[in-house]
Amino acid sequence: MKVCMVGTGYVGLVSGAGFAETGATVVCADIDATKIAKLRAGEMPIFEPGLDELVARNVAEGRLAFSDDVPTSIANAQVIFIGVGTPMRPDGGADLSAVDAVALAVAQHATRECVLVCKSTVPVGTNVRVKRLVREAPHAVHVVSNPEFLKEGDAVNDFLRPDRIVVGVDPEDQFARDVMARLYHPLCLDRDRIVWMDPASAELTKYVANTMLAMRISFMNEIAALCEKVGADVHQVRLGVGTDARIGPKFLYAGPGYGGSCFPKDVNALVHTGREHGLELDLAVATELVNQRQKGVLFRKLRHHFEGDVRGRRVALWGIAFKPRTDDIRDSAALTLIDALLADGAHVVAHDPEGLDNARARYGDRVELATDPYAAAKDAEALVLVTEWGQYRNPDFERLRTTMRRPLLLDGRNIWSTYQLGQMGFTYEGIGVRAG
Ligand code: UDX
Repeated sequence: MKVCMVGTGYVGLVSGAGFAETGATVVCADIDATKIAKLRAGEMPIFEPGLDELVARNVAEGRLAFSDDVPTSIANAQVIFIGVGTPMRPDGGADLSAVDAVALAVAQHATRECVLVCKSTVPVGTNVRVKRLVREAPHAVHVVSNPEFLKEGDAVNDFLRPDRIVVGVDPEDQFARDVMARLYHPLCLDRDRIVWMDPASAELTKYVANTMLAMRISFMNEIAALCEKVGADVHQVRLGVGTDARIGPKFLYAGPGYGGSCFPKDVNALVHTGREHGLELDLAVATELVNQRQKGVLFRKLRHHFEGDVRGRRVALWGIAFKPRTDDIRDSAALTLIDALLADGAHVVAHDPEGLDNARARYGDRVELATDPYAAAKDAEALVLVTEWGQYRNPDFERLRTTMRRPLLLDGRNIWSTYQLGQMGFTYEGIGVRAG
């Protein structure tokens, strides 16, 4: 099967390399020639565990190539994936100009009957819009919706071992159905994972999944605030409710608010779609509202410890990325905290195992960036844990206590709540948990 993946961002690159791994012949195409040149030289534009090995192996074995010649890559393919970006417009809708450009290129350059798959996260109705753009093509173009559910930090594993594969295809389109079934067959050897549906439902599924996960987090963040008021512990409440099989244990962790490129954008996009159709999706609206508020929680707690004035205080952050195992800092709660601290005149020093380059690009020398976590904490009047990287889970507390100017630990992920930190001389505060 000859596949062309247009767009070498997060989704395009991981999915392109993933299809190559399953035996397809894949060209990942992008109009950004610099990026393609780097990929050809083996340089990954993102940090994602296992991705460089996956790419290197499939390039070496001749199944994966990179090209900045999008028309030729399209002309040679049986299946063309749209994996380009769909950034949020100021009104909350998605900017579909890159999607449109791929559809028009397929209409113009396809040399045979082919399948065009929307893999980018696109609003409901995009499938119809793309169909319209390829209607006049000289060869039949079958349009399919196949949203991606990759998690950053675990994307390679998610691609190769998916819970399910959602494929939206018109019921009468047997050609597209056969091609998609063949393409995904290697990922369905032990059981059929494809959930077939109509294109609009497939498009909506992506937003519903992400909004429902975001909703669970926001609800637990609200409950964490209530726990603090009533003297309960959100950690125990989570265990209590998460063991109900109907609820399940995942995505129930209170924290500093969800971030990343997906949840905030997708919740807003769902709200926007509702409004376009005259519906106010109140739960989705509240999910984002609670999250916005939650992103200020670490700063509010910190300010409280400093009697409302953080000016001139040296505050250390552990973690800048929106979650562990990624260098992605987009919409991270750490940014909200850093911005607030800088605005109030604090001195911010931060460590992150992978996110320092992105932080430097955003803050320049306004934030001191440390390559060693203990160097960041040295002389600090507070240490705020923002991202639960594995290396922060069991630190040398004694070293922290003796080198920090003031032994205040603010744990945004509750990873230290079970240590007896009070007895060790720390002031400890988590999110909705009792001090250890
Ligand atoms: C998400 C979806 O999980 C994925 O299926 C989709 O394709 C893209 O969006 P991702 O953005 O990579 O993936 O991150 P995810 O692991 O879902 O975490 C999102 C945010 O929620 C992070 O900031 C994380 O720290 C936060 N989170 C997650 C919590 O605060 N509590 C939790 O219990 C789980």
